[in-house]
Amino acid sequence: MINFDFHKYVLDYIKKEDKVKYLEKAREIKTRFLEGDLKYWNKLDTFISSQELKKIVNMTDYIRSNCDVFLVIGIGGSYMGSKAVIEALSPMYDRKKPEIIFLGTDLCSEDYHETLEYIKDKSVIVNVISKSGTTLEPSVAFSLVMKIMEEKYSEEELKNRVIITTDPETGDLRDLANLKGYVTFTVPPKVGGRFSCLTPVGLLPISVAGINIIKLIEGARSSYERVDRAIEYAVIRDIFYNKGKIVESFTVYNPKMYYFTEWLKQLFAETQGKGKKGILPISCVNTRDLHSLGQFLQEGHDIIFETVLGIDKDVKVPLDKYDMELNSLNNIALDKVGLAHANGLTPSNIITIDEKNETTIGELIHFFILAAIIGALLIDENPFDQPGVQEYKKLISEELE
Ligand code: PA5
Repeated sequence: MINFDFHKYVLDYIKKEDKVKYLEKAREIKTRFLEGDLKYWNKLDTFISSQELKKIVNMTDYIRSNCDVFLVIGIGGSYMGSKAVIEALSPMYDRKKPEIIFLGTDLCSEDYHETLEYIKDKSVIVNVISKSGTTLEPSVAFSLVMKIMEEKYSEEELKNRVIITTDPETGDLRDLANLKGYVTFTVPPKVGGRFSCLTPVGLLPISVAGINIIKLIEGARSSYERVDRAIEYAVIRDIFYNKGKIVESFTVYNPKMYYFTEWLKQLFAETQGKGKKGILPISCVNTRDLHSLGQFLQEGHDIIFETVLGIDKDVKVPLDKYDMELNSLNNIALDKVGLAHANGLTPSNIITIDEKNETTIGELIHFFILAAIIGALLIDENPFDQPGVQEYKKLISEELE
């Protein structure tokens, strides 16, 4: 369960009269989510149908027993959500087989050279994920990987080793899948890349990593309270923003949550950062970053607020030195840093989960998806496009032509 402590360290900033100004807008947004054009964001079947879920579960068993490496090719929303959940919920060492490798997030020769060398003698299943089917980086990665796959496997065998996740009807990848008879999964047309973690885009790799996706999506099942809380959080962010706090640090106290903050950065930057507006998302992994960005957050330019993600219960590690468990010390640090930063320049919203598991991570994913959409609506921007990203794609493809 998510617990919100929005006001503890933000009282100097969030006055009642500030919030009152949002009442009408908040009511209007809530109606859109509960019974209007945004209602579909509250329904699990927007993200995943029961047939696709069954197919993912069956495919997971097949993949887990038929390869050493499961290679996931995708960029932005097509990989960030699964990477975040896998890192948050997997053990640090000795992970279950198959090894999951992500590729297609850069154009760096060294990265490709080393990865291709590493997989060349291994048994590989590839999942290429691109909603549009045309994005440069994954299409470069796919072409380099397929060169090796075609040398290693027959056309027939490739049908068991190439899985395509893309738009149900259009795009190069859909055409290729139809031509070659590859297994496919669908990105629901209404769900843009950065919101697609709970669709086959995220769920297949997460499931192959041995994580219980049924619990994950159950956690994401919406409630009225979640919509209210997402609106409240979005309003607080907007109040900060209008008071000149144009940077939000997503701060965590568990290093395994690092990629979750990367997912948050992508989600909020692409949803809100347009029209010369929006809050710049950054991240801190504490207590490590108290010894780096922490100085700026305490005493630097007065433009930052924090959203801190805490975890109440963790594995028990007795710390005899202070006669307590290590996690209690971590949570004391979280609390006192919140106080110190609030006394300085940087107020904190604190959001905690009881413990880190499939259900609570599912809850957080859905909560932040709602909050990012509402954040864009509050600044009168379209949450669902990313025209700036399209712009760079266009310039590169013009150059290539
Ligand atoms: O959130 C988004 O829409 C983007 O980050 C996309 O996920 C990213 O650009 C990759 O696009 P595609 O899945 O079409 O390759």
